[in-house]
Amino acid sequence: MMVSMMQFRDLVVRSRSIRRFDESVAVKDGVLRGLVELACYVPSPKNLQPLKFIALSDPDRSRALFPLLSWAGYLADWPGPEAGERPSACIVMLGDTSIASEFSIDSGIAAEVIMLGAAAEGLGGCIIASIDRPALRSLLHIPDRYQILQVLALGKPLETVVIDQIGEGDPVSYYRDLNGVHHVPKRMLADILLDFSDDPS
Ligand SMILES: Cc1cc2nc3c(=O)[nH]c(=O)nc-3n(C[C@H](O)[C@H](O)[C@H](O)COP(=O)(O)O)c2cc1C
Repeated sequence: MMVSMMQFRDLVVRSRSIRRFDESVAVKDGVLRGLVELACYVPSPKNLQPLKFIALSDPDRSRALFPLLSWAGYLADWPGPEAGERPSACIVMLGDTSIASEFSIDSGIAAEVIMLGAAAEGLGGCIIASIDRPALRSLLHIPDRYQILQVLALGKPLETVVIDQIGEGDPVSYYRDLNGVHHVPKRMLADILLDFSDDPS
């Protein structure tokens, strides 16, 4: 089935970072494996494909990982999702140092493709890079050969996120309003699409 540009744009716009979940809803292992499988088809510098993944669909294992993640730095008064609203599944993204030594481009591309897949599945989630890496390594017995890149926290979304269109110079910090709606400021096309053709220099 061909996806139209309108459908694809809608998926991209809808795929916002979600940090509160209905923890009682598990993510099926097959769904999680399907999301990781998307990463087999993304571009990779020199086609090295150095990323490896640990998929945790068991809510108890995700729960054990939860205290090692830091949530929403801009929401200073919010320590992260409370019990019952935590992610029920996680994907740990690793860089295999026997294949490459630099992973940032690979990990960015793969993380977003997986998050788009999650949105397509009706799930939500958040890319988390603020991680207690030594503790995570020890918890999951991750050998030194693998660099811990990010954790993708996933679950059934329990929060509303809206985009606030901002202009150049406006604050980029997200916030939560009195109704609990999460606002995420985004620059619009006019501010990111450049054209220097009339520049006399
Ligand atoms: C590489 C990367 C690392 C991130 N790390 C964290 C994190 O540690 N904790 C967190 O709550 N959000 C994290 N985020 C989510 C960003 O805060 C989020 O993308 C940003 O606020 C914009 O919201 P949006 O994803 O809905 O566009 C991260 C996002 C990216 C791309």
